[in-house]
Amino acid sequence: MPTTLLQSNLPGLELIHRGKVRDVHALSGNRLLIVATDRLSAFDVVLPDPIPGKGEMLTQISNFWFGKTAHIVPNHLLHTPLEEVLPPGTDLQLYRKRAVVTKRLKPVPVEAIARGYLIGSGWKDYQANGSLCGIKLPAGLRQAEQLPQPIFTPSTKAAVGDHDENVSFDAVVAAVGKDLAEHVRDATLAIYKWAAAYAAERGIIIADTKFEFGTDEDGKLYVMDEMLTPDSSRFWPADQYQVGISPPSYDKQFVRDYLETLDWNKQAPGPQIPAQVIAGTSAKYAEALQRLAGITLE
Ligand SMILES: Nc1ncnc2c1ncn2[C@@H]1O[C@H](COP(=O)(O)OP(=O)(O)OP(=O)(O)O)[C@@H](O)[C@H]1O
Ligand SMILES: [Mg+2]
Repeated sequence: MPTTLLQSNLPGLELIHRGKVRDVHALSGNRLLIVATDRLSAFDVVLPDPIPGKGEMLTQISNFWFGKTAHIVPNHLLHTPLEEVLPPGTDLQLYRKRAVVTKRLKPVPVEAIARGYLIGSGWKDYQANGSLCGIKLPAGLRQAEQLPQPIFTPSTKAAVGDHDENVSFDAVVAAVGKDLAEHVRDATLAIYKWAAAYAAERGIIIADTKFEFGTDEDGKLYVMDEMLTPDSSRFWPADQYQVGISPPSYDKQFVRDYLETLDWNKQAPGPQIPAQVIAGTSAKYAEALQRLAGITLE
């Protein structure tokens, strides 16, 4: 049975960040304990209801990809057993599948996005400018069309409540320097290409995805946070893919579609969501986990 956790409660461990989804605790030795909760955000607002097991599924999907891509780019995972770091008396079951011990890195202040298809804000920018993050694209591309090759389309990491904004590669160079910018871009495209090919063999298109990177004391680059989950990526079932329409996906579209039927201004607090929408969303995450990682929830 999946567990449900809306927020971590680990007395004695310093809480350094409650993100939209993850609670981040500091550990000795420049390490972190990152707990993926069952919080769901839509339109950048955290909804009041948890999606049972979602944090476990996200963590397992991320761990799967971190493992699979470690030969391409090193990642933040330390593989320290949780028993060694959880406060005495903690319900291990509750954290076992949703918490990881990681290196504590200095975040590179950019959302590293790779796109293989033209959808979402990429499609919007292309319609307005014929380009995306300063990259000129061929004329006449249609919605959801595959790009001639995958592109790196960075965006700024917005403060809570704000939306991220696409920026040019030059803006990333100005923010972090040429070497790091190129390294982040190359790592982003390398992981995306590898994962897209892997998913394609399993009937899933990875339309786009977002990575976060960080550096250690020596300036070495690692991929961190989460990796190739339905929260950070657009997964499309290949058998339903069609150019010209926005394909159904494994991401939060189910909840978003429901929310669009409400008279809600998309500002916090978010509305409650009905049980069948919660169950449907949970099933979507389980399907992504099963189809990509081959993991079935017990
Ligand atoms: N290894 C790491 N070292 C340092 N920070 C990390 C590491 N891995 C993840 N993080 C940070 O931990 C946080 C995880 O929280 P979560 O994913 O819920 O955030 P978010 O809601 O997406 O964004 P925000 O942090 O802006 O609220 C992110 O801020 C992420 O950048
Ligand atoms: Mg995040």
